Amino acid sequence: MVIGEKMESIQAVRGMNDILPDEAGWWQKVENAAREVLGNFGYREIRTPVLEKLELFARSIGESTDIVEKEMYAFEDRNGERLALRPEATASIVRSYVQHSLYTDSALQKLYEIGPMFRHERPQKGRYRQFHQIDAEVFGIDGPMIDAEMMHMLSLLMDRIGLSGLILNINTLGCPECRQTYREILKDFLTAKGDQFCPDCLRRRETNPLRVFDCKVERCGALLESAPLLIDYICEDCRAHFEAVKDYLEKLGTRYEVNPRIVRGLDYYMRTTFEVITDRLGAQNAIGGGGRYDGLVRDLGGPDVPAIGFAIGMERLIMLLQQEHREQVRALQANVTEQSSTSQVNVPDGVKITEPSRAPFVFIASLGEQPRASAFELVQQLRGRGLEAEMDYEGRSLKSQMRRADKSGARYVLIFGEDELMRRQIQLRDMRTKTQRVLPLDDLVESMLRIDSETTER
Ligand code: HAM
Repeated sequence: MVIGEKMESIQAVRGMNDILPDEAGWWQKVENAAREVLGNFGYREIRTPVLEKLELFARSIGESTDIVEKEMYAFEDRNGERLALRPEATASIVRSYVQHSLYTDSALQKLYEIGPMFRHERPQKGRYRQFHQIDAEVFGIDGPMIDAEMMHMLSLLMDRIGLSGLILNINTLGCPECRQTYREILKDFLTAKGDQFCPDCLRRRETNPLRVFDCKVERCGALLESAPLLIDYICEDCRAHFEAVKDYLEKLGTRYEVNPRIVRGLDYYMRTTFEVITDRLGAQNAIGGGGRYDGLVRDLGGPDVPAIGFAIGMERLIMLLQQEHREQVRALQANVTEQSSTSQVNVPDGVKITEPSRAPFVFIASLGEQPRASAFELVQQLRGRGLEAEMDYEGRSLKSQMRRADKSGARYVLIFGEDELMRRQIQLRDMRTKTQRVLPLDDLVESMLRIDSETTER
């Protein structure tokens, strides 16, 4: 290295994003709303590792799905063990449910997990290689009531977060028996079309015909317009289950549309499947999706326990939320401009909208070595008593400290230098009224607590 040469900076891995402090408020808002709503419905949090044995995903999601075939971050560790970064949470939660016998007292468990997932897809707007999901799962109920309740809860969560205009699409994939009959019918349809499908679909025709509905190639989509649909071939029991799910949804006032082309990209589903979509994010239109997976617990070595769940993609949800927020601000702006013809905050497209960060209650500005050391102790004492306090750590000029205090939005500033320290006094400046008074230094924490409660009361 040549001395003085600038080192090349290291960038994040492609498709993996930092969530910067300006944006973190949005994430907290969504997570808090999710925890509140899920908690009200009786869900408890579970946290599973991001790394699992590769076999877990191959056996649950399916060997011939895009996720397992093309998108997994899979590798051998130093001991030669085949591992994978989780592409979703369901398989891990089922593994944990089985491993820890969470069914011992009762098979019923309502669980949720929030965290990062990893898929090696081609990154684009709304599609990343590390993304986050809010995932909810219910074990132990096979009746249609819980299917409807889950979708109702999902809609409620969207409302609580403040998102409108989302569409709930539902479908049924039948049970393995009715799917077997349909597979042959679909295979015959695909065979009759000869080689018109893309090479991937031709391969899917042999390995896993239902997956052709996942194909993004336009030509394949057009050919599938006239394909037979699974919903027309389901058995009596599956039909009755689906009808009951729809009835319950109507009773709950949850709006839905039946979309018989939803197959979902994972193999473990059966019966009810659903997706929440938006027409406002371009190609990546699915905000969330889920469905019933009654055979999976058994297939992963547990008892025969039915289960259903969904996951919401947090990046897409937040993107949509920011978009709506931007539009609201713009509408408000237009309104104000119309009335007063003064221009307000400018919110151009692509600009990150930041949630207001929390402003400190008090900022301590100090002048001199000794006062700064006392300020350091004071700030910890104030925080220890539950007050949000900030200070200058670097001994800047009073002017620059006041500028920082102002920028931070602090309600009060405490100012002291050598003189005040000697007289055991401190100046308190109310940043809102721009007035100043003197407080005794010795019971300052108590005084500030009193002022805090008076300020909150008013
Ligand atoms: P999924 O449909 O694969 O389902 O993913 C759920 C949501 O995660 C999607 O609707 C989307 O919002 C988000 N998502 C998926 N891939 C990406 C990506 N590359 N970038 C950004 N967001 C993405 C599942 O994962 C199932 N485990 C859901 C489930 C739970 N089924 C039953 N229980």
